[in-house]
Amino acid sequence: MTTSKEIIEYFKIIDVQKKENQEHIRDTDKGIFGVSNLEIMDDFFNKIRISKEDVFVDLGSGDGRVNILASIYSKSIGIEFDKELVQESIKHNDILKTAAIFLEQDYESYDFSKTTILFSFADHFFNEKFIAKLSKEFKGTLYIYQGIFTPEKITKGKTIWINQTPIYSYLF
Ligand SMILES: C[S@@+](CC[C@H](N)C(=O)[O-])C[C@H]1O[C@@H](n2cnc3c(N)ncnc32)[C@H](O)[C@@H]1O
Repeated sequence: MTTSKEIIEYFKIIDVQKKENQEHIRDTDKGIFGVSNLEIMDDFFNKIRISKEDVFVDLGSGDGRVNILASIYSKSIGIEFDKELVQESIKHNDILKTAAIFLEQDYESYDFSKTTILFSFADHFFNEKFIAKLSKEFKGTLYIYQGIFTPEKITKGKTIWINQTPIYSYLF
């Protein structure tokens, strides 16, 4: 079975290649692709005590790294609009062989009724319609990495600090 350490090391190598090819950040049709730090994310998963009972969803999963790592701890789904990034995620997972699931779709049309943990390294504010949809369907905690685009009017939970990086929580 692949370990979280192996996943972190694998993406460190990928990041060196990405930086050389200037592929580590780019525009997508829905926003901006950039990546979360997996060492921080691994500490985060341990801190929130995510478990096999959870259904974790990454809203805008980019190259799949966060939901590949999350799959070590729980059921894990990444939703990404950009076709190339979804294909790249599948390619990474073919090597890492985890149970992570990748969906190529607009996350605004996903049914969140079975999701228990939502994660977003948001690249824009959520619109009111999407927040209303989440309020109706989702019963759990939404975590926002770095917290620039945080949702208004949703009850704020504890902020988790890892190595000076805040991950904000919102209770649905
Ligand atoms: C900043 S990246 C974060 C990638 C990944 N979650 C991580 O933390 O490494 C944000 C991603 O969200 C995607 N995205 C933005 N809006 C979306 C939407 N409505 N549906 C699906 N993907 C979306 C973008 O294409 C981009 O790849």
